[in-house]
Amino acid sequence: MSRPTRIALKVAVWGGCLAPLALLGHRAWTDDLGANPVSFVTNTLGDWTLRILLASLAMTPLRIVFGLAWPITLRRLLGLFAFAYACLHFSVWIVLDFFFDWPRMWADIVKRPYITVGMLALLSLIPLAATSTTEMIRRLGARAWTRLHRLVYVTGVCAVLHYLWLAKVGVTDPYWYAGALAVLLGVRGWDRGRRLVRRRRRAAVPATSAPAGS
Ligand code: HEM
Repeated sequence: MSRPTRIALKVAVWGGCLAPLALLGHRAWTDDLGANPVSFVTNTLGDWTLRILLASLAMTPLRIVFGLAWPITLRRLLGLFAFAYACLHFSVWIVLDFFFDWPRMWADIVKRPYITVGMLALLSLIPLAATSTTEMIRRLGARAWTRLHRLVYVTGVCAVLHYLWLAKVGVTDPYWYAGALAVLLGVRGWDRGRRLVRRRRRAAVPATSAPAGS
């Protein structure tokens, strides 16, 4: 992929990820946040956290299924945007819902399962964001880094559970997100299984083709 194409893709991701925030800012400025502004802001930021997280999780399956190389160059940027949105979503909860009342916040985390798994989703993103630089890949080593970054599956599952748990009866959106996550994880699982079988077959060839008694 040429450098201008890579830059254009990254600019598109920056634009696409910042647009919802700009729109939210515009709605706040024009007093257009509906009857419950805190809930509107929390939910909008939560929705975009989940969408961007799933977009980052879709990059590897896109490469696997279509053999494309470019999605991988966007994975880190999308992951960092998902983390930034998650922090904003969490900040609204801290500041506007609880106004730094730490004991009440802790009580809410342990009492409401959807908050517990939301916290787990956010916490699991921290080591991923902290080790997202090329320098950290070098320091950890590619193997350990790849193993650590499998934590993103935990993030995805906790994020979808968070939404499934909090949604009111009759709301179908969380099921669509759960379905999308299942497809994305399914493609990765299928690819891993396929590679494992191929590796085993390759390892078995010399043994079976070796001359008897050798
Ligand atoms: C990666 C982390 C997270 C993701 C992906 C996420 C995603 C979401 C989504 C999709 C919604 C529902 C939006 C809608 O109804 O349209 C939501 C709502 C909400 N989230 Fe999160 N969230 C995360 C972390 C957290 C954390 C850490 C907290 C607080 C500790 C939190 C608190 C809430 C609250 C209070 C609501 C609103 C519930 C309601 O309307 O009753 N979330 N979140």
